[in-house]
Amino acid sequence: MTAPILLLGGNGQIGWELRRTLAPLGPVTALERTDVDLADGKALRKVVRDAAPALIVNAAAYTQVDRAEKDAALAQAVNGTAPGILGEEANRLNAGLVHISTDYVFDGAAARPYREEDAAAPISVYGKSKLAGEAAVAGSGCAHLILRTSWVYSMRGSNFLLTIRRLAGELDELRIVEDQRGAPSWARMIAEATAAILVRCGAPSDTGLLTEKGGLYHLTASGQTSWHGFAEAIVDWLRATGQPVRCRRVLAIPTAQYPTPAKRPANSLLDCTKLRDAFGIALPDWRDQLALCTETGSCG
Ligand SMILES: NC(=O)c1ccc[n+]([C@@H]2O[C@H](COP(=O)([O-])OP(=O)(O)OC[C@H]3O[C@@H](n4cnc5c(N)ncnc54)[C@H](OP(=O)(O)O)[C@@H]3O)[C@@H](O)[C@H]2O)c1
Repeated sequence: MTAPILLLGGNGQIGWELRRTLAPLGPVTALERTDVDLADGKALRKVVRDAAPALIVNAAAYTQVDRAEKDAALAQAVNGTAPGILGEEANRLNAGLVHISTDYVFDGAAARPYREEDAAAPISVYGKSKLAGEAAVAGSGCAHLILRTSWVYSMRGSNFLLTIRRLAGELDELRIVEDQRGAPSWARMIAEATAAILVRCGAPSDTGLLTEKGGLYHLTASGQTSWHGFAEAIVDWLRATGQPVRCRRVLAIPTAQYPTPAKRPANSLLDCTKLRDAFGIALPDWRDQLALCTETGSCG
């Protein structure tokens, strides 16, 4: 019998894609917020125990970075505490755990892309809560993979791509931050790579191999840009495909001219060498990913 997989956050950008990419590995039970609230530790334990999976994949998170500044307790419960509960339950079941994390665990002050061994120093409530979640997973003793990604977008949900598409149709001019750099990563590519990594780790059935090869990895698109560069590429795509564009120029502005409740790292770049060396997996350049994503249209 094929080992069952429990997916949390099945309605999110990455979780939605994982439903499909994990399916060849075993039967997937995908849960959404309406099925279990990650802030309710007791309910979360019960759901995991009832499902008794061989592999847990956690793509659920409190992802509203600005709102988290005023909602620290909930962000901590969902991003910091719940992953630890999943780790404990995985340990108890001798199951594996995949947990998605973020570039926002870093302060962004480095002059080069961050490596896994670099010290994390989050500058936002969201980043702190996600770092706490990583520590809880690693400390639980279960066989695990923590995959840090960045600047996630897709054709569904709430993200920069869809926001710029809407604003470009409404405004004459877009003013977009130029001094934050990162690698925009398509949710589907992240989900496909996650499944490929799991296959190479023998998951879901072999937690021994997952223990040996697992740990913390950076998983983002190759290449880099700024939010401004990303916005320009999105507007170029809208124009090239004849979609309604009112916006005549995309102006580059400094972060100082776009204050937000949460601070963001100026450098969000993650070095993905460890992942490539361990699994032979490297995500394509962000521009190629954007082209592939936008080709899928609104049905993605
Ligand atoms: N978005 C990014 O730019 C980005 C960058 C780096 C890393 N990440 C990480 O990637 C992972 C997936 O992010 P994403 O972009 O796919 O986020 P997303 O689209 O916001 O999905 C997150 C999912 O978590 C669910 N969720 C939130 N609070 C919950 C709760 N209390 N109980 C149960 N479910 C809850 C949400 O449910 P609803 O659908 O009901 O809201 C949503 O479906 C997260 O770990 C995130 O930290 C994201």
